[in-house]
Amino acid sequence: LVKMVKICCLGAGYVGGPTMAVIALKCPDVEVVVVDITSARINAWNSEQLPIYEPGLDDVVKESRGRNLFFSTDIEKHISEADIVFVSVNTPTKTQGLGAGKAADLTYWESAARMIADVAKSDKIVVEKSTVPVKTAEAIEKILIHNSKGINFQILSNPEFLAEGTAIQDLFNPDRVLIGGRDTPEGKKAVQTLKEVYTHWVPEDRILTTNLWSAELSKLAANAFLAQRISSVNAISALCEATGANVSEVAYAVGKDARIGPKFLNASIGFGGSCFQKDILNLVYICECNGLPEVAQYWKSVIQINDYQKSRFVNRIVSSMFNTVANKKIAMLGFAFKKDTGDTRETPAIDVCNGLLGDKANICIYDPQVTQDQIERDLAMNKFDWDHPTHLQPMSPMAVRKQVTVSSDAYSATKDAHGVCIVTEWDEFKTLDFTRIYEGMQKPAFVFDGRNVVNPEKLRQIGFIVYSIGKPLDLWMKDMPAVS
Ligand code: NAD
Ligand code: UDX
Repeated sequence: LVKMVKICCLGAGYVGGPTMAVIALKCPDVEVVVVDITSARINAWNSEQLPIYEPGLDDVVKESRGRNLFFSTDIEKHISEADIVFVSVNTPTKTQGLGAGKAADLTYWESAARMIADVAKSDKIVVEKSTVPVKTAEAIEKILIHNSKGINFQILSNPEFLAEGTAIQDLFNPDRVLIGGRDTPEGKKAVQTLKEVYTHWVPEDRILTTNLWSAELSKLAANAFLAQRISSVNAISALCEATGANVSEVAYAVGKDARIGPKFLNASIGFGGSCFQKDILNLVYICECNGLPEVAQYWKSVIQINDYQKSRFVNRIVSSMFNTVANKKIAMLGFAFKKDTGDTRETPAIDVCNGLLGDKANICIYDPQVTQDQIERDLAMNKFDWDHPTHLQPMSPMAVRKQVTVSSDAYSATKDAHGVCIVTEWDEFKTLDFTRIYEGMQKPAFVFDGRNVVNPEKLRQIGFIVYSIGKPLDLWMKDMPAVS
């Protein structure tokens, strides 16, 4: 009888949960246990209401949970029983001390590694699933080996490329799976063991194996390239507005070049999410530490353009509305950082709200997946100010509650509003009855579309004054000085 492979994953978050659920689904001969230090999260994974919203996730979890997929808080037991331990804990940006505002905070990572070293009684393959600075495997190896009590640990880097909102699809059909390991006989054997897990459903030619440092750096580089495309198209969107070009037409024409490709060229209010900014800052820090200030500055500019795009949007709103939004109701459609997720980490909606609240607006928010609680927490959060000398201070929770309300549908959110701003591209916003919305609003009625969801011409026919990112400007805004 072949021994069943046992997997334990530390961290039941946006990555650990879906990734392990798919491994369990595709590998019925593997037992997968996901553990976390937060018992509320584990309880939610074991309930009907999963802790994260992700299309298709419920079905995948239901099929395997209790069969070969388990969620538990008994971290020690499951680490000690596992052959392969994935570490998928959070690696946020450091907020204090050396490298604050840029470097990755590896506190959770290190404590996970020490826990593995503490409780392991048999040989283990330890897999870095979290996104970590290049060379982290070396540090982890040191912790494990110096505490090993004679146990053999093999470290692999297996970064995750899934995007939220499409996580299940991305996991079922990945562009590639990347596995980095040591070039020793034990290292190669460990790579092979992990590869066998993925070959249950991923074609072999999509499984790339590299050395550890290449795998770690490829993840940071891939996210930096993706974010750079968005900043590139967003930079062009500002020029489109100034010249009368249309960014959708430009992006389409540019993307037709097979060397560039059509995907990921949607101009927007700016990228959000827990990964892009964090990973680029991390890359910038690594470049600086390696004496490469020019390379650091190059990648930093991707974030600078993103910040510029967000403040440009807020300035456009305020300047169009007679330079003041004080006491005016502004409806915000969407709050999540992209559609099909309830995740609000680093969502541009927070920056837009803070900007408008600074100008004393009353904001009414509707998002189909984000709760009022979450919105209030996000707006009162002390966001780390990495490089914004003019960044506004967060508001007190009381002030937030006074100026911000949350609505359960788009029509009540927009009722009596002076302006509507669209910050998330939820599909349902494409089919809203804008005539009905117009009738319920104060006049002149403004729409600021940060996601190119609406057809500006159609809305202008209804009577709206419309601003769409990177589209020819409404006559209303044409005679205004360029905003920056
Ligand atoms: P998350 O915050 O949703 O989940 C991390 C979980 O780890 C939390 O539930 C936390 O309680 C738990 N944890 C922390 N320390 C622990 C410990 N010692 N033992 C057990 N559990 C512990 O984070 P996430 O979004 O899943 O991201 C995890 C990692 O994956 C990060 O490094 C991130 O950069 C990377 N990543 C994220 C995405 C994404 O789309 N969210 C995509 C690719 C890679
Ligand atoms: C990203 C990477 O895509 C994924 O490979 C990695 O594993 C984690 O980080 P995620 O942040 O979940 O995934 O979503 P993504 O689809 O990349 O979107 C990030 C942000 O960019 C969102 O705010 C999105 O709205 C924005 N975006 C994306 C644009 O503004 N324009 C685009 O063309 C694409």
